[in-house]
Amino acid sequence: MSITSATFVKSAVSLKTCPTANIPEFAFFGRSNVGKSSLINQLTGIKGLAKTSSTPGKTQHLNFFLINESWHLVDLPGYGYAKVAKSKRKDWENVIKNYLIKRNNLLCLFLLIDLRHLPLDVDLQFIDWLGKNGIPFCIVFTKRDKLSKKIYENNLSEYKKKLLEDWESLPPIFVTSANKNIGIDELYAYIEQLIMVVGDE
Ligand code: GTP
Ligand code: MG
Repeated sequence: MSITSATFVKSAVSLKTCPTANIPEFAFFGRSNVGKSSLINQLTGIKGLAKTSSTPGKTQHLNFFLINESWHLVDLPGYGYAKVAKSKRKDWENVIKNYLIKRNNLLCLFLLIDLRHLPLDVDLQFIDWLGKNGIPFCIVFTKRDKLSKKIYENNLSEYKKKLLEDWESLPPIFVTSANKNIGIDELYAYIEQLIMVVGDE
């Protein structure tokens, strides 16, 4: 199976304004500019579906897309964008955390991380928060094409080591490049598998 249709549903500014939670949902989240929108476009095969930009902070709402008429994909606004006022950032953080905790149909959050940097506190703290709140998540490393093999291997093992300091086991990890179409099929296979599991329940 593959993605045969993807349409924009709506932009929401809070949990209350999200579409009805009656189909499986997958959300993409991560620091500003990490490549969330690009990955969504590559996954769905539709270039302009999610708006991408070299200016961080492009995505500012929870953007819902209906995929194959059967599940939602959500592009969340990035965190850590310095140019957004502090008070506004806090508001957004609360909206997203509220969404993640209360959205019953959310099957998995894909946390996107740029592997060009060694583990950043802001990402580790968020992972900690996800774990403590029991939110199912995977880590998706992005922009693989920008890394040499050596840096890639070093940073990936540093990341795993750091996570295992706090966690007994690692979450599922994907390594991707939207530009070079790396790891996208694996990501999609994972989504399909989760949809099938809930369909069987
Ligand atoms: P916000 O919406 O601002 O939070 O950003 P985002 O996480 O949605 O990032 P976006 O997809 O807009 O990409 C940010 C920049 O990174 C753009 O210039 C993309 O072209 C670039 N980019 C994204 N994915 C890749 C990738 O796999 N490889 C390379 N080389 N560049 C990428
Ligand atoms: Mg975006």
